[in-house]
Amino acid sequence: MNRTPKPLQGIIQVPGDKSISHRAAIMAALGRGKSCLRGFLRADDTLHTLKIFQALGIEVIGSATDGDIIVEGRGLRGLQEASDILYSGNSGTTTRLLTGLLSAQPFFSVISGDISLNQRPMGRIITPLSRMGATIWGRRQHTMPPLAIQGRKLSGINYDSPVASAQVKSALMLAGLYADGPLNITEPSLSRDHTERIFNSLEIPVYTSIAGNGTATISMSPAAQDYRGTDFVIPGDISAAAFFLVAALINPGSELTITRVGINPTRSGILQALQAMGADILVENRHEAGGEPVADLTVHGRRRLQGTEISGTLIPRLIDEIPILALAAAHANGTTTIRDARELRVKESDRLQAITLLLEVLGVQTESLDDGIIIHGGIRIPAAKKLLAFKTFHDHRIAMTAMVAGAAAGREVELDDDQCISTSFPRFSQLLTDIQH
Ligand code: S3P
Repeated sequence: MNRTPKPLQGIIQVPGDKSISHRAAIMAALGRGKSCLRGFLRADDTLHTLKIFQALGIEVIGSATDGDIIVEGRGLRGLQEASDILYSGNSGTTTRLLTGLLSAQPFFSVISGDISLNQRPMGRIITPLSRMGATIWGRRQHTMPPLAIQGRKLSGINYDSPVASAQVKSALMLAGLYADGPLNITEPSLSRDHTERIFNSLEIPVYTSIAGNGTATISMSPAAQDYRGTDFVIPGDISAAAFFLVAALINPGSELTITRVGINPTRSGILQALQAMGADILVENRHEAGGEPVADLTVHGRRRLQGTEISGTLIPRLIDEIPILALAAAHANGTTTIRDARELRVKESDRLQAITLLLEVLGVQTESLDDGIIIHGGIRIPAAKKLLAFKTFHDHRIAMTAMVAGAAAGREVELDDDQCISTSFPRFSQLLTDIQH
């Protein structure tokens, strides 16, 4: 049935940041004694990380649905060999960060995920970890999961990473905690720095220097001693908030506030991009929580957005938001060009292809680039088309973008897989419905 799109109104919270939740779980497990995870994201990806630590002998206490999670850490050298395969589901962050950590443990591990995860590139971590002395086997000449890891003593290295990837950087940093010397990683531009922040908050010093050309170098020494368990405060996920920001911007008459959203500069490129498109976004009540900058975001769907260009060092700062940004571009006047985003081809799906097909359902003209997409603004859905059927490629961010597209068009949406949304945001659909007035 065709419905008139409804404005979005209200004050909402989005779930805890996915990247920070993974890191808090890891660092809680490696701390000595009780840690409390406040605002931990309860979604498939992050629950896989917790379950893996349980399999490695760590006690985790907490309800399946809400409240804080308590982790009884056993210190940096307290993990025990698991008796079965460690299952990481759809989570690249779990797989890559834990492969780094497990490379340095004195035991054998096997890590494997779902069909999509087991096709994602792992050479990017195996190559540098092997240079540190790690022994890792994988499918396709040791480039794809399942991965088998024989932990051993590692060495510090200087590594020049060809990609700006926080998963690569963090895998090496976790291995680097146990190395016999300093670790220096250079990346083409600074990727999300949550691991650096969490290490520093636990008094494991990490230094970052940015060169004139934007290249970032991260330097650390092995952990000198155990640290105590602590409280980890996890802000709302800006990558989850982004769906609601764009939903409000493309639904005229919307006014929506999202409270306590993490606005770490290495993650908040979405705000910069939307503001460059003319979006009306207010950032208020700025404060720090758990070593991360946090704020309330208020957005008004008052004026039409304008096309823009998104490329260069901005890309890693909004890499997960490109699907929903593409929908904003589809609703904008003029053309939006996204370049330097080749990494999107190896995310939970080939997101450049998935975006193209999603926009095709909305009648939007696009041009494919190797490393991006050109989007000619203008939604042209035939009036007779009552149902919008989307192919998600089992990718949570594509599925959520499709649901926002349907809400803005006032059409029913059919997804070939809506379960995948629980990868990062199980209550997404309910929340989107609740705020349409
Ligand atoms: C993440 C890093 C990014 C991001 C992913 C989460 C992390 O991946 O796309 O969703 O938590 O470190 P890359 O490191 O591959 O860029």
